[in-house]
Amino acid sequence: MNEIVGLFYIVASILFILGMKLMSSPDTARKGNMLSAVGMLLAIIAAVSATSIIGVKFIVIGLIVGSIIGAIGARTVAMTDMPQMVALLNGFGGIASLLVAFGEYYSLSRPSLIDKVLTGGDVALASSIPIILTIIIGGVTFTGSLVAWGKLSRKLPSKAIIFPGMKLVNVLIIAAIVVLSVLVVAGIPVLGLSTLQLTIVAIALSLVFGILFVIPIGGADMPVVISLLNSYSGVAACSAGFAINSTVLVVSGALVGASGLILTQIMTKAMNRSLMNVLLSGFTAKKDTSTDEGETGEVKPINVEDTYILLEAASNVLIVPGYGMAVAQAQHVVSELVEQLEENGAEVNFAIHPVAGRMPGHMNVLLAEANVPYDKLREMDEMNPLMENVDVAIIIGANDVVNPSAQENEGSPIYGMPVIEVTRARNVIVMKRSMNAGFSGVQNPLFFKDNTRMLFGDAKGTVQELVGEFKS
Ligand code: TAP
Repeated sequence: MNEIVGLFYIVASILFILGMKLMSSPDTARKGNMLSAVGMLLAIIAAVSATSIIGVKFIVIGLIVGSIIGAIGARTVAMTDMPQMVALLNGFGGIASLLVAFGEYYSLSRPSLIDKVLTGGDVALASSIPIILTIIIGGVTFTGSLVAWGKLSRKLPSKAIIFPGMKLVNVLIIAAIVVLSVLVVAGIPVLGLSTLQLTIVAIALSLVFGILFVIPIGGADMPVVISLLNSYSGVAACSAGFAINSTVLVVSGALVGASGLILTQIMTKAMNRSLMNVLLSGFTAKKDTSTDEGETGEVKPINVEDTYILLEAASNVLIVPGYGMAVAQAQHVVSELVEQLEENGAEVNFAIHPVAGRMPGHMNVLLAEANVPYDKLREMDEMNPLMENVDVAIIIGANDVVNPSAQENEGSPIYGMPVIEVTRARNVIVMKRSMNAGFSGVQNPLFFKDNTRMLFGDAKGTVQELVGEFKS
């Protein structure tokens, strides 16, 4: 029986790895998701067959209830609400690992309930280290993710929240958690508290720390935080795997932990910021450069009719979408515009910046929702060398990701961030509502370049009018 269960775990682990590989490309992502889900089902079946502690009926009920909630979520949650959904799922992962580890600690310590709470029990070192690690990381992940969810869904203020002495409070909590962990692992009761009671205090502190960890970070940096918490939830699951001796949990947790960390690194690199800079953003007051004298010059507005004339004559059009396209929900009309341009004989491509929008893959999912073919979505590094061939670059609600200051102005806060180099296109049309700065708060000299025209207005309405021009 053990061999069969082990075999199931190996197959499940292979399916997780293959699934993740397939998820790295949009056109195979669905298949990857499906393979991973099958892997998870196999792992659950194997776990149920191997354990005699919990009745199968509870697991089946859990499976059915969880599947129903998951299916409803997948159908009803809007694409733009995905970051919040991921934040919640990370949090659930964290609390699940915490409960598994606490349950394990509880069952390994002394038999009678009252005995356990009062005196704790002797738990082997090999178990107690992963147990306490899981409890702490799981606790931080749970409340941290709930705060991230609250900030993104505007249930909590999205601005950074800090209070006097916050850093000191954080340091004291971390120190207390470290001391408690050592005491629990060494099995030393103190101040009349059993090691089980000390574990409960450690849980409470880790839950508080999760809140304090995320509240000082601004809402716009939440995607990076969510990706980091995703990694934490994986580490917690991996550690829980060691605690309960489950290979499949170790493997799947390690996969989530590593991939979350890689994603965090990709995001911070594409923003030209360090992880520390993001995590401490609330403490290090950011200089608002939006009102700096900076780059100024003549702004040349253009109307829809003239834009149509320019596009009608273009044979190579590049669309650069950004956060504003998501805000305006313009993806469907943008897809219609692509059809019109192609019918008119133009080649149309999209240039996708890795951190355009507010979550990884934000533009990809929006455009996929509007059925824009994947092969039209080009990565920044692929498009930049081809920029001279572009007749018209249309910037739809993007700002920082096309800001030439990142390359031209060493004093700029975004200097060094890789950008889509639209200034080298023959004509640039920027669609936005005003001259306001983007996420970084920095003025954009692109708007004043000779070959740039500003098409002011809500992106959806403007693109709709352009489509109308093509149709009439
Ligand atoms: P932003 O620089 O934030 O610029 C978006 C622009 O869209 C704004 O300037 C805004 O100008 C315009 N806009 C807003 N609503 C609009 C509407 N309804 N119609 C037309 N335009 C509208 O966006 P970006 O270029 O996509 O850059 C993303 C930024 O977010 C980067 O700085 C990146 O570092 C940061 N960030 C990204 C992520 C990820 S993972 N994607 C995570 C954290 C932070 P108006 O107000 O004038 O319309």
